[in-house]
Amino acid sequence: MFKKLFSYIIPLNILKQKSTISQTLEVTWTNGKLVLDSNNANYSYGSLQRILRKGLKVIGFEKIQAMKKILVLGVAGGSVIKTLVDEINFEAKITGVEIDTAVIEIANEYFHLNEIKNLEIIIDDAFEFVSKTNDQYDLIIIDIFQDTKMPDFLFEKKFIEKTCSLLNSKGFILFNTMILNKNQRQLNSDYIKNFDSNKYTIIQLNKMEETNELIIVESKF
Ligand SMILES: C[S@@+](CC[C@H](N)C(=O)[O-])C[C@H]1O[C@@H](n2cnc3c(N)ncnc32)[C@H](O)[C@@H]1O
Repeated sequence: MFKKLFSYIIPLNILKQKSTISQTLEVTWTNGKLVLDSNNANYSYGSLQRILRKGLKVIGFEKIQAMKKILVLGVAGGSVIKTLVDEINFEAKITGVEIDTAVIEIANEYFHLNEIKNLEIIIDDAFEFVSKTNDQYDLIIIDIFQDTKMPDFLFEKKFIEKTCSLLNSKGFILFNTMILNKNQRQLNSDYIKNFDSNKYTIIQLNKMEETNELIIVESKF
């Protein structure tokens, strides 16, 4: 309780450990809230949660509530999962895919992710998981970062086509990206070119918390 109150004056770090994927993983009390950060980025429960919440709002909370299956690629502390469960009251199945076992241990210990009954966590590389699975989803949230870096596969045709093939009719992809330079802006415009406008509607929400751009893809059929 004291740590939480004190964190309104100055952030209070309570865990810092090395990570092969994210350089470091840090849990910190900030303004009375616990957040998870990597070396140079907020991973969960800070600006990242606000960004994805806005994306979900654009899709529509009521529409999401009626969905049957959601896939989250990149779990970290699970803040978008908490938004789905606590704020949208989503009760159907959520599958979370995360490459880093250590981050899930932190998510369970500090953010009680393992208490969410409708959540299944799979430890796997998102690229491998997407290549192997044939399950269908109403919403696929792509939120994959290795510190501030986004792996190349996210922008490759093979991955894009496979994620599209996993969408149920009228399904959505919510893709969180970071734009820190010209190259990354170009990657996003190239990404969008993969979607046939007869089949998909694209919404781009840019300059979110200064650095992020959300791409929302909606299947028309
Ligand atoms: C920004 S965090 C995700 C935040 C989370 N969606 C939330 O709402 O709190 C990015 C996560 O992507 C994970 N990641 C990085 N590369 C991955 C990969 N190839 N497959 C699956 N997860 C990966 C990282 O370990 C990290 O936990």
